[in-house]
Amino acid sequence: MWGMNSGKGNSNVLIIGSGAREHALGFFISKSADVGKVFFANGNAGTLLDGFENIGLKVEINNYARLAEFALEHECVTIVGPEEPLANGIVDVFNSKGARILGPTKDAAMLESSKVYAKEFMRKHGIPTPPFRVFDDPNKAKDYIASLKDDERVVVKADGLAYGKGVIVCNSKEDAYSAIDRIMIAKEFGSAGDRIVIEKRLYGEEASFICLCDGNSIMPLATSQDHKRLYDNDEGPNTGGMGAYSPNMLIDGDDELYKQIIHGIMEKTIHGLRSDGREFKGFLYAGLMISNGEAYVLEFNVRLGDPECQVILPRLESNLLDYVNHAIDGTLDQLEPLQWSKKYALCVVLASKGYPFRYEKGKVITGLRSNNNGRVANYNDVFVFHAGTTFNQQGQIVTNGGRVLSIVALAYSMRDAIDKAYRLVNTISWDGMHYRKDIGLKALKYL
Ligand code: GLY
Repeated sequence: MWGMNSGKGNSNVLIIGSGAREHALGFFISKSADVGKVFFANGNAGTLLDGFENIGLKVEINNYARLAEFALEHECVTIVGPEEPLANGIVDVFNSKGARILGPTKDAAMLESSKVYAKEFMRKHGIPTPPFRVFDDPNKAKDYIASLKDDERVVVKADGLAYGKGVIVCNSKEDAYSAIDRIMIAKEFGSAGDRIVIEKRLYGEEASFICLCDGNSIMPLATSQDHKRLYDNDEGPNTGGMGAYSPNMLIDGDDELYKQIIHGIMEKTIHGLRSDGREFKGFLYAGLMISNGEAYVLEFNVRLGDPECQVILPRLESNLLDYVNHAIDGTLDQLEPLQWSKKYALCVVLASKGYPFRYEKGKVITGLRSNNNGRVANYNDVFVFHAGTTFNQQGQIVTNGGRVLSIVALAYSMRDAIDKAYRLVNTISWDGMHYRKDIGLKALKYL
């Protein structure tokens, strides 16, 4: 059965991370004929239910040297899910020990770990991005806001990592003053807010574009679209992502736009990093704003998106491990373009009450047992990827994080994918479960 640690192949895989993105990565890479065991540092209840091994009891998961030793002992290729270990240099540690790992080095990961670095990099290399200013003094930042015309709108961003929550989109000068206070005075995101970027707010449609990179060339993944705001109709605070769909017809339906993104953004970025001495291997993610038919980079991430990964990988028909190995070896140009199913994929994220701020844990999740015993339901093209889940002492699956489950459906139309995903969502519940009811609806206008 897919997903079980059957030991059927020659190559073991270690996935770093505990979210639904990592669950999906492990699940789909286990489909490759070459893959033997899949380990997670540290996974969740879903990765255990799928028969994979969570290694947190054996290895302290923040000890990168020990993780590298584990990977060497078990002959693993390691893939890193989240940004934090990349920003902290996990790839550098693995490389120094000769352990195979996919991801950017600490220097290259600064594209995500410092918004100031990323914006200055884009300016230097002529990559389209909204105009910006950098401030380390809140008073000077407020003076700048005061100097703007009344109808000019900005986005205020904490420089450092803030899990998608350090970006505050402002509708007025008052919003901007309050964002500066929250980030620089109240230190809502800690030292990540020592510096800020104030960026001109662009209007248009957001899109996610992700490539696998080998340091020199890029291999585009299927296009996708995230839903970052907490509430329907794109209202409420930014989150890590409340749902996604793939493909993104806005990009796929416009050849000129697609070429601009490939040549004017993704290739330029990889070559710019290389010429700056920061070779980038791994998944490069551009968060774009499409405004008047042109793409602008709002932010870079140095990893797969979550929940974008959960809608991209179910559509992949190529051997994922093969591409991962070529990316590590710098030989992606030897491979054919990745092959994608014609089906549409939709993901609805089920979150805890209070997310993206304080939330409670330990709520018993009902409905999962009827869905293939809580495992990834890989029948009839529906999938349940776990994120913040664990077992309580009675063996029940309980919530253990802000984003708890990703419910994914594949279908030959977006309408069917939406209906199929929400039918499954309606069978699952816990006290305080929150989700958006409008995931994918904006895609219908392109069909
Ligand atoms: N979905 C946005 C992110 O992964 O940061």
